[in-house]
Amino acid sequence: MKILTIESTCDETAAAVITDELDVLSSVVASQDELHQRFAGVVPEIAARAHLERCLPVIHEAVRKADIELTDIDAVAVANMPGLAGSLLVGVTAAKTLAWLLDKPLIGINHLQGHIYACQVAFKKPIFPCIGLIISGGHSTIYHCRSAFDFEPLGGTIDDAAGESFDKVASMLGLPYPGGPALSKCALNGDPKAFAFPRPFLNDSSRLDFSFSGLKTAVRYEIAGAGAVDFKSLEIDDQRKADIAASFEQAVVDCLVGKTILAMQKSGIQRVCVGGGVAANRRFREALENRVAEEGGELLIAPMNLCTDNAVLGAIAIEKIKAGQVDDLSLDAVPGLIR
Ligand code: KG4
Ligand code: ZN
Repeated sequence: MKILTIESTCDETAAAVITDELDVLSSVVASQDELHQRFAGVVPEIAARAHLERCLPVIHEAVRKADIELTDIDAVAVANMPGLAGSLLVGVTAAKTLAWLLDKPLIGINHLQGHIYACQVAFKKPIFPCIGLIISGGHSTIYHCRSAFDFEPLGGTIDDAAGESFDKVASMLGLPYPGGPALSKCALNGDPKAFAFPRPFLNDSSRLDFSFSGLKTAVRYEIAGAGAVDFKSLEIDDQRKADIAASFEQAVVDCLVGKTILAMQKSGIQRVCVGGGVAANRRFREALENRVAEEGGELLIAPMNLCTDNAVLGAIAIEKIKAGQVDDLSLDAVPGLIR
C-alpha cells in the first residue's frame, strides 16, 4: 500500500509517499524561510499564498521521486490540525480533491501526533507507550502517548513556544530567521553561565509546564533595558552576544530537559520521543541524552529532516487506516488545539 501524505500546517509545503511498511519512497519539502525572513516570523497570509503556488509542484515531485504514477496511490493523508487556518486549507483542499479524483480513502492527521510518530518511522520500531515532547515554533508540549490515537497532554508552555523564543531572541541579537540554528551557532563561542536568566517552574515538581515569555523579556532587558529600542541599529559586542545566546539557550535546555525527566519519573514511562524543530538543537540533544541515560531510559529523536516540518509525519495515517479511521470529504481544517 502506498500513501500520499500532504503537509501545509505552517510555512513548509511538503508531500511524501510512504508504504504501509513505513518505507519512505519520497519526501519533498519546500521551505518558505526566505519569504518570512524579513519579518522574523511566519506571516500567515504570505504562508497561505506560497502554499498555493507550491502545493501541486511538491506533490508531483513526491510522486515522481517515488517512481510511481499518481494513480498508483492507495490513500491520501493530510495534516488537517493544528496550524494556520489559511495554510491548512491549502493542503486539506488538495488532499480532498485528490482523494475524490482518485477515488481513494482520505485520512486527516494531527500534525503534533505525527511529529512523535516520525520517531517510529525513523527507528522502525514500536514507540508506544512513550513520553512525547514536541518542541517547535508553535508548540512546546509534553504528552503521555499511550498509542497513536491516545495522547494525553501532561503539561506545556503557558505562553510562548520554545522555538518562538529562539526566533525572537535571535532577532534581538541581530541574527537571521529562523533563529534557532543561528542562535545556537552564535552560542558556541559563549559562556552558558555568563547570565543567570530565569528558568520558570523548573524547581516546581508539581507541574510539567514551561514559560518562555519572561525569559525572552529578561534577555531583552539584558540587551537593551526597558525602553523603546530599534534592535536593528544596536551594536552588540561579539563576545557579549555569544554569552547572551549561550546563557539563553542553556536556560531553555534546562527547562525542556528538567520537565521531560520529571514526566518520566512521574509516569514511570522509560521511553522518550522528541519531535519539532528545536529537537535539532545540539546542546538540548546532548543534555537530554545524558539525563535520560542516567534515568535508565531510552531516547528517540528522529534525524533532523524528520524533526522539522515534513510530510513523513503523515505516516501516522497508516495506523488510522489499520484501525478503520478514515475520513470523508467533509474533512475540515482545524487550526486551534489546546496545547
Ligand atoms: O517543527 P518546525 O520546523 O516548525 C514548526 O514550528 O512547526 O520548528 C521550527 C522551529 C523554529 O522556531 C526554529 O527556530 C527552531 O524550530 N529550530 C531550532 C533549531 N533548529 C530549528 N531551535 C533551536 N536550535 C536549533 N538548532
Ligand atoms: Zn511542526
